[in-house]
Amino acid sequence: MRGWTRRLVLALLALLLGSASAACPPRCECSEAAHTVKCVSKELRSVPEGIPGYTRNLFITGNQISRVGPESFRGLENVTNLSLSNNRITEVESHTFAGLRSLRSLDLSGNQLAVVHPEAFSVANQSLRELNLSRALYNHSAVVDLAMALRWSSLGGLRGLDLSDNSLIYLPARIFSHLGGLRRLQLSNNSLVAVHNASLSGLERLEELDLTLNALKTLPEEGLRELDSLPGATLLLGDNPFTCTCGIEPFALWLNRSRDRVRDADGLACAFPAGMRNTSLLAAGSLTLGCHQRDAGADLALQTSYVFLGIVLGFIGLIFLFVLYLNRKGIKKRVYDMRDACREVWEGYHYRFEIDSDPRLSQVSSSADA
Ligand SMILES: *[C@@H]1O[C@H](CO)[C@@H](O)[C@H](O)[C@H]1NC(C)=O
Ligand SMILES: *[C@@H]1O[C@H](CO)[C@@H](O)[C@H](O)[C@H]1NC(C)=O
Ligand SMILES: *[C@@H]1O[C@H](CO)[C@@H](O)[C@H](O)[C@H]1NC(C)=O
Ligand SMILES: *[C@@H]1O[C@H](CO)[C@@H](O)[C@H](O)[C@H]1NC(C)=O
Ligand SMILES: *[C@@H]1O[C@H](CO)[C@@H](O)[C@H](O)[C@H]1NC(C)=O
Ligand SMILES: *[C@@H]1O[C@H](CO)[C@@H](O)[C@H](O)[C@H]1NC(C)=O
Ligand SMILES: *[C@@H]1O[C@H](CO)[C@@H](O)[C@H](O)[C@H]1NC(C)=O
Ligand SMILES: *[C@@H]1O[C@H](CO)[C@@H](O)[C@H](O)[C@H]1NC(C)=O
Ligand SMILES: *[C@@H]1O[C@H](CO)[C@@H](O)[C@H](O)[C@H]1NC(C)=O
Repeated sequence: MRGWTRRLVLALLALLLGSASAACPPRCECSEAAHTVKCVSKELRSVPEGIPGYTRNLFITGNQISRVGPESFRGLENVTNLSLSNNRITEVESHTFAGLRSLRSLDLSGNQLAVVHPEAFSVANQSLRELNLSRALYNHSAVVDLAMALRWSSLGGLRGLDLSDNSLIYLPARIFSHLGGLRRLQLSNNSLVAVHNASLSGLERLEELDLTLNALKTLPEEGLRELDSLPGATLLLGDNPFTCTCGIEPFALWLNRSRDRVRDADGLACAFPAGMRNTSLLAAGSLTLGCHQRDAGADLALQTSYVFLGIVLGFIGLIFLFVLYLNRKGIKKRVYDMRDACREVWEGYHYRFEIDSDPRLSQVSSSADA
């Protein structure tokens, strides 16, 4: 009898424990069958404890979590997809996701990351394939931390990186140099004004680069060289404020050459100057050839006017010489007259000088004055 009671108590205990292990954290929804846990828009201030070990898809979105660290995700070795989007996260510590050994997709979009520690995205197994940082950075300054984290987090297995909708003004040199496996890079809707040397270096296997909705006015040689260093990548360049003045010509010619890999080449249009708005950038290549022609024309006009001036001056000189020749007799006479006149003047002067320089005469004159 006693043994039976004891067994009953044990059984009850086991049931309680069992239900506890299958429990769901408060304010979350758990589905063991779908291996999914969702804690969506519940004003959580930290990652809840007690997330079941079977979880593969974990959504903790739209809450008020401000920072995540290594203690946030313990014992969750089965999680492959983790979304932490729209949580106001400002800080991600090093090794935060290191325990998530099966993690393949990490979505941090819609946060306000200002402090990203160097090994923030490290995952034990280098299993991470997709990292979504769309609208995730607080401001452009965070790009320095981000560059460090992309370098130190062992992301060689990463295939897709979404950095769209941030306020990136430029890309630090070699920011992606440790992402040798990356296939897709989204940089659309930032404020990039240029593509500098080495800003895309290391992306040997890139297949897709999206640079739409940025602030590119043109792409000078430096940027074109950088894009040509990604020969396997198709490019998207639309919705940039391209400015079709003479300087855009190398870009337009490059575009014509690279039509097969710039997917939206046919749709690219000038945004400025106003008179060129909506002109196809491909056409601008031949239009702006006019820059050179106009310059050459101006040069030619200038040269012509110099030649003309020279001829006129030469002609005037000739006429002058001819007139001199015709008047040679008169001139000769005039010269002799002049010589005689000079001689007379000189002699007169000489005479006066002798009188002036005679001290006796000057004394006489000064005593007469007195
Ligand atoms: C992870 O999943 C495997 C297989 O489904 C399971 O055996 C293991 O217990 C799970 N891990 C945890 C911590 O629950
Ligand atoms: C998990 O992430 C992968 C990409 O790594 C994606 O294809 C899949 O649809 C995601 N699953 C869920 C449930 O979000
Ligand atoms: C490494 O990741 C793969 C999934 O990408 C997983 O199947 C494997 O178990 C992981 N290995 C270890 C040691 O965690
Ligand atoms: C990243 O997240 C944003 C917003 O949540 C979403 O629109 C976008 O499709 C995601 N990017 C990828 C590559 O899945
Ligand atoms: C980004 O925000 C920080 C903190 O507010 C500020 O100190 C920094 O100047 C900002 N950077 C930019 C580029 O706006
Ligand atoms: C671009 O990003 C800003 C936030 O940085 C967002 O407000 C805006 O809606 C985005 N524009 C597009 C066209 O996605
Ligand atoms: C970019 O590299 C080229 C040579 O590869 C060099 O001439 C140029 O000065 C560099 N530009 C900058 C801004 O470093
Ligand atoms: C440029 O094209 C857009 C759509 O293609 C059109 O809405 C706009 O009116 C055009 N602007 C000019 C100045 O032609
Ligand atoms: C574009 O390239 C083709 C040859 O591939 C050439 O026939 C055409 O004239 C070029 N167009 C312009 C605008 O340079």
